[in-house]
Amino acid sequence: MFTANGDYLKLRGSYLFSTVARKQREYEASHPDRKVIKLSIGDVTLPIAPAITEAMHKAVDEMATAEGFHGYAPDLGYEFLRKAAADNDYKARGCDISPDEIFISDGAKGDCGNIQEIFSKECRVAVCDPVYPVYVDTNVMAGRAGTFNEQTETWSDLIYMPCTAENGFMPEIPSETPDIIYLCFPNNPTGGVITKDALQKWVDYANKVKAVIIYDAAYEAYISDASIPHSIYECEGARTCAIEIHSFSKNAGFTGVRLGYTVVPKDLKSGDVMLHSLWARRHGTKYNGAPYIIQRAGEAVYSEEGKKQLKEQVAYYMKNAAYILDGLKEAGYEVYGGKNAPYIWLKTPDGMSSWDFFDMLLERANVVGTPGSGFGPSGEHYFRLTAFGSYENTVAAVDRIKKMQ
Ligand SMILES: Cc1ncc(COP(=O)(O)O)c(C=O)c1O
Repeated sequence: MFTANGDYLKLRGSYLFSTVARKQREYEASHPDRKVIKLSIGDVTLPIAPAITEAMHKAVDEMATAEGFHGYAPDLGYEFLRKAAADNDYKARGCDISPDEIFISDGAKGDCGNIQEIFSKECRVAVCDPVYPVYVDTNVMAGRAGTFNEQTETWSDLIYMPCTAENGFMPEIPSETPDIIYLCFPNNPTGGVITKDALQKWVDYANKVKAVIIYDAAYEAYISDASIPHSIYECEGARTCAIEIHSFSKNAGFTGVRLGYTVVPKDLKSGDVMLHSLWARRHGTKYNGAPYIIQRAGEAVYSEEGKKQLKEQVAYYMKNAAYILDGLKEAGYEVYGGKNAPYIWLKTPDGMSSWDFFDMLLERANVVGTPGSGFGPSGEHYFRLTAFGSYENTVAAVDRIKKMQ
């Protein structure tokens, strides 16, 4: 008789986005005359840039020829893409990362979820609160989270690092010592960013207590302030304590194309064991590589033309972010993020719960956002709006929110 994996049975229902979608559907069904604007999920809206679609077309044509056909990709990904990433994302920033420390994948979500497999089940995990739910749920699936407390809405074996307005949305070194620390900057959902000095403190701490930092850099393309690091490897000592995860979804609009990569430096070791070898083993055993056509598309992200076009796309979304930030401030809201990140994190007025604010915004402004409490208990009384909508929708949504007063 088979039995289901009990750790999966501990998972909480995927309440957040399904409830958001259901409430929107119900509202639209009962108010067919209203146009609801969705600034909730972190999906991009601009089409793929021409430099990238050209590269994809070319790769498709190649695949139709005997000479240009490509079957299974090399385990780590094609050298042309790993070299482009190493040169542009690391070497250009003075970081010492070589192409053979970069593992190409079909996106950051899978890597964020799978990376925990190479650590023992006994490792203590620390997460920011609020948090991108993948880090928590995949550790629940792996049996590392303990039991869920309905009152506190926390898992008994996870270490929570609250990030609220009071501490500038910066996690503080926890009192219990973790083995694995998940950090994401620029942050989803708070839009918070970390300075190089602050990140250096985390690297020093991780090296001191022999913890590993899993650094999710999915939103690094939105950084415009020179004092904010794009990569954890800009910090001294990060090669011995950090894994970094990248996505092509938010910098290049690949949410539906699918491409990402993970960096595991060869200096990152548990005793004599190189985590690089374990991740290579995992990659080789469980994954057969991102498609050639998509890896060529990824290479075009780093071409001169690609970089120029993508800079414009990021600027487009950041114009939305500025409009939301300024508009909400004018309307009297306490707002955060939105400066080096595509997320705006606002404090709900008069201590309203995140879900009550969601309902009010939907009913009175016909705007859909994401309740902060869905990202963790410290997200209660906050609310997330994204800058990934069209400019027209963003302006209309903000103007409606202003009129709601
Ligand atoms: C923090 C963070 N990491 C990773 C991802 C997933 O990225 P990808 O589309 O590459 O799987 C997201 C997507 O929203 C995200 O917000």
